[in-house]
Amino acid sequence: MKLRCISCEKRHPSDGVTLTCPSCRGLLEVEVPLPYRPKFVGRGVWRYAQLLPVKQEVTLGEGDTRLYRCSRAGMRSLWVKCEGGNPTGSFKDRGMTVGVSLAKRLRRKILVCASTGNTAASLAAYAARAGLRAVVLLPAGKVATGKVAQAVIHGAELVQIQGNFDVAMALVRGLEREGHVYILNSLNPYRLEGQKTLAFEVCEELSRAPDFVVLPVGNGGNVSAIWKGFREWKAMGLCGRLPKMIGVQAKGAAPLLAGHAISHPQTVATAICIGDPVNASKALAAIRESRGRVVTVSDREILDAQQWFARTEGIFVEPASAAAIAGLLKLHASGYLAKARRRLGGRPLMIVCILTGHGLKDPERAIHSIRPPRRLPPSLSVVGRAVGLK
Ligand code: F0G
Repeated sequence: MKLRCISCEKRHPSDGVTLTCPSCRGLLEVEVPLPYRPKFVGRGVWRYAQLLPVKQEVTLGEGDTRLYRCSRAGMRSLWVKCEGGNPTGSFKDRGMTVGVSLAKRLRRKILVCASTGNTAASLAAYAARAGLRAVVLLPAGKVATGKVAQAVIHGAELVQIQGNFDVAMALVRGLEREGHVYILNSLNPYRLEGQKTLAFEVCEELSRAPDFVVLPVGNGGNVSAIWKGFREWKAMGLCGRLPKMIGVQAKGAAPLLAGHAISHPQTVATAICIGDPVNASKALAAIRESRGRVVTVSDREILDAQQWFARTEGIFVEPASAAAIAGLLKLHASGYLAKARRRLGGRPLMIVCILTGHGLKDPERAIHSIRPPRRLPPSLSVVGRAVGLK
């Protein structure tokens, strides 16, 4: 197994601790040898153990999430992958089981991350299970309550930074340079190996790769990990065509579309409120190579999509995940998908939208998006009249 720098293409030995290219400081990608006849055993992330860089040490039973077919959006073959079904309620667990397994094997004692919330919640849980220390740096006042609660209850050492996520991330990189701590942000290419398993699950369930994969993008780790998964699946001869990757960003936090870092990102989707994505070059490569695109959506579109999806499909996702739905609806309305369909000879497009986190992560946002519920006296006739039954 080797590490490959995505900037200078140099290869380095995989020691588990080198996280950026020693030659040019570029981002690294893990190169796992692909088996000729792969054997998949069991369910979830570790079903694909042959394609992962470490043996299982710490697990909570991640992956194997539901793929639902959705018919209300006017698209014939739309599927959503509900990553809220993971042990801590987001896709981060797929990566964390691999990253924390590696940290345990390397005998690292202090695990650290900067986070908009979900990485912190996931790291806190997996570190607890591994019996290791977790230190999480959060942008003060910019993290949804459910995620803070998770980090606290699992016993992580929580530090609130007066600044945004990018500031916290820079501090984490500084801590790592000084030694002692092991970073479990998506800068860690081993963690991303766990996240690529989402692509494997989708291909196995649909018996092919979809035409489009739509997902929210913050630091850009997930889009690149999933793209790597599809590429490996194809390289093993298990699927034909590869999907186009559609990365969705909030209008106020869209550095990938701008083509440069943004100093004051702003969006209701706090999970993806990131101005300087650490994996920008990997994410852009995935989108470019797959001939996909970046789509931006407004906060209003995100909240409308969140509510609409919860009310029509019965699935409650956090705002960042709703951004993917909003992005997909926008692409559909713009005629982009109809054009793609014509190019494919008119057959229905198979689209998979990745719903990255559970709605209960951010209960305040949901409650604030409706009028406060009425308070009534405990009288049958009053209640009956109020709900239109009398
Ligand atoms: N969706 C959710 C729910 C997230 O929590 C994140 C990232 C993303 C999408 C974007 O994924 O960063 O790989 O492009 N959350 C990170 C965190 C930043 O700290 O929890 P990405």
